[in-house]
Amino acid sequence: MNFIDQAIHEYAEQHTTAESVLLQKLNRNTFAKVLQPRMLSGHMQGQFLSMISNMIAPKFILELGTYTGYSALCLAEGLQPEGELHTIEINEELKTFAQQYFEESPYGQKIKMHIGDAIKIIPQLNLMFDLVFIDADKENYVNYYKLCKPFLNKGGYIIADNVLWSGNVVKHATERDADTEHLMAFNTMVQNDLEVKNVLLPIRDGLMLIRKL
Ligand SMILES: C[S@@+](CC[C@H](N)C(=O)[O-])C[C@H]1O[C@@H](n2cnc3c(N)ncnc32)[C@H](O)[C@@H]1O
Repeated sequence: MNFIDQAIHEYAEQHTTAESVLLQKLNRNTFAKVLQPRMLSGHMQGQFLSMISNMIAPKFILELGTYTGYSALCLAEGLQPEGELHTIEINEELKTFAQQYFEESPYGQKIKMHIGDAIKIIPQLNLMFDLVFIDADKENYVNYYKLCKPFLNKGGYIIADNVLWSGNVVKHATERDADTEHLMAFNTMVQNDLEVKNVLLPIRDGLMLIRKL
């Protein structure tokens, strides 16, 4: 969902760096061949993630929720030359699809895809990260935050997607579903955490940017 006027959104897209040929192909093929293609970050958000990653120049990036690999490829654009991006996906059927795009990109050697439940895999990675992108199941956002924070370097960033959940976070309690409640709990927890600074951007479905102090 976009929270801004459609004409403004289109104008903003027209004045945002175009997707690479590979990202265009991945975007097209995800919509043609994979279920729930709207989960893909897409042009504007992808360029935003790339821009943020280039600003941070992270050595290690962690992504929760690979899906078809679009956001992983965008985030990998900012990695240091020796850097690595670790991305976790629970749906094994997506592995071959995502992996073929990783291999076609300049980041094939740098992107490590892990198949399984992020809750179990995060503690096994044994790495300290400079940037974490949370984009897996919404019911675990609070758990992911608590689990990832100790593995985030001081001055490192967490970005969490979908924190406005199509605007449902401002609906009356009787109109909210379970995922809305989970995301609201996440947003409140971050807002009350004195160990971070945060800003909630109404980009696409809402991005929470968090910096560990
Ligand atoms: C919104 S999609 C990710 C989109 C991707 N980051 C992008 O922007 O192109 C969420 C993904 O999280 C995966 N997922 C859900 N629960 C998970 C879990 N417990 N551990 C790892 N991945 C999970 C889903 O299978 C799905 O592919």
